[in-house]
Amino acid sequence: MITRLAYLGIRSPRHGDWPDLARKVWGAQVVDDGPDGAVRLKFDDADWRLQIHPGDEDHTEYIGWAVNYEEDLEEVLRVCAELGVEHERGDEELAQSRSVNRIVVFTDPWGFRHEVTWGQSSVPGSFLPSRPISGFVTGEQGLGHVLLLLPDIEEGHEFFSNFGFRLSDKIIVPGRLNARFYHCNKRHHSLALGQCPPGVAGLNHLMIEVNDMDDVGTGYELAQEHDVPITLSIGRHTNDKQFSFYHATPSSFHVEYGWGGLEVDDEEWIPRVYDRTATWGHVPGEGTQGPPGIMHPLREAGAVMHDVPEAATP
Ligand SMILES: [Fe+2]
Repeated sequence: MITRLAYLGIRSPRHGDWPDLARKVWGAQVVDDGPDGAVRLKFDDADWRLQIHPGDEDHTEYIGWAVNYEEDLEEVLRVCAELGVEHERGDEELAQSRSVNRIVVFTDPWGFRHEVTWGQSSVPGSFLPSRPISGFVTGEQGLGHVLLLLPDIEEGHEFFSNFGFRLSDKIIVPGRLNARFYHCNKRHHSLALGQCPPGVAGLNHLMIEVNDMDDVGTGYELAQEHDVPITLSIGRHTNDKQFSFYHATPSSFHVEYGWGGLEVDDEEWIPRVYDRTATWGHVPGEGTQGPPGIMHPLREAGAVMHDVPEAATP
C-alpha cells in the first residue's frame, strides 16, 4: 500500500540554521519559504521534501508517505478504521500546503502524525544542487528512510505491517540496540524502528542517499569544516551496506548521509538478523552527547511522564 517516504516535516526554533547545513554540507536546494516561514528543502524534481517550520520547541510535525495509486488512500483509511487509530481525509488546503494532489492523515499509537499522499508535485529538470554533487537517490525509492524510537517495537511491528512495510532484517546488539528495518520499495528500508525506554517515542534520524560515493566523502569533510557535530564517523552498515556518516542537526534529530544502500527484491528477500550495526567505522562522535532524537512523552491515561533518555544513536 504505502510505497515510499515522500517528505518529512519538523518544527524547530532553530529553523533558520537549516539552509546553511543543506547548502554547504548536503548539496540540497533551498527553495522559497512556506507560508508560515518554513524552510523548504528540495532533493530532486519534487517541489520540496523536507520542511522545517518555525516554532518554540523541536517537534516531529509529520511523516509524509506516498502511494502509487489514488485508490490506495481508501485502503489506508480502511486499515486505520480497523485498527481504531485517529484518521481523516485531508482537505484541499492541506494537500496544497504539502504540494500533493490528495492526502489522508492518521496518528499512530505513539503520537506520530503520518500523512499518506498521492500526486506529489514535481517539475522535471527543476532540481539544482547547491554544491557539485551527483544528486540524490529518490524517485520510486522516495526521500530516504526514517528511524523511529518506540518503547515497544513488537507493537510497532504489528502496527506498521498493516500499511505495506515488510521486514528486511533485525539488528540486535544485546543491552545496546534492538532495531528492525522495513522496506516498501527497492530501498532496503524506508522505515526503521528502534527500541527506547518506556514513556517516550521519537524521531532518531533521516537518511538521505547520494548517487556517488565521493559525495559522502566531500560531505564528511564539509561537515567537519563547518563544525557540524558528527554522530557516527564514516562507515559501512552490516544490513543495508550503506556507506555513510551521521551528523547532528540544529533540531535534535540526526541525519545519515549515505551512498550505496542495498536494493531488495521483495519476491526473493529473506529477512535476517545481525548482531552489529557496522562492518567497519561508524564510531560514535561528539554528536552523540545530545538527545537520541526529537523525543516526545507518550500521553496515556495514568501514565507517568519520563524524562527524555540519553541513549546512543543506533
Ligand atoms: Fe539509517
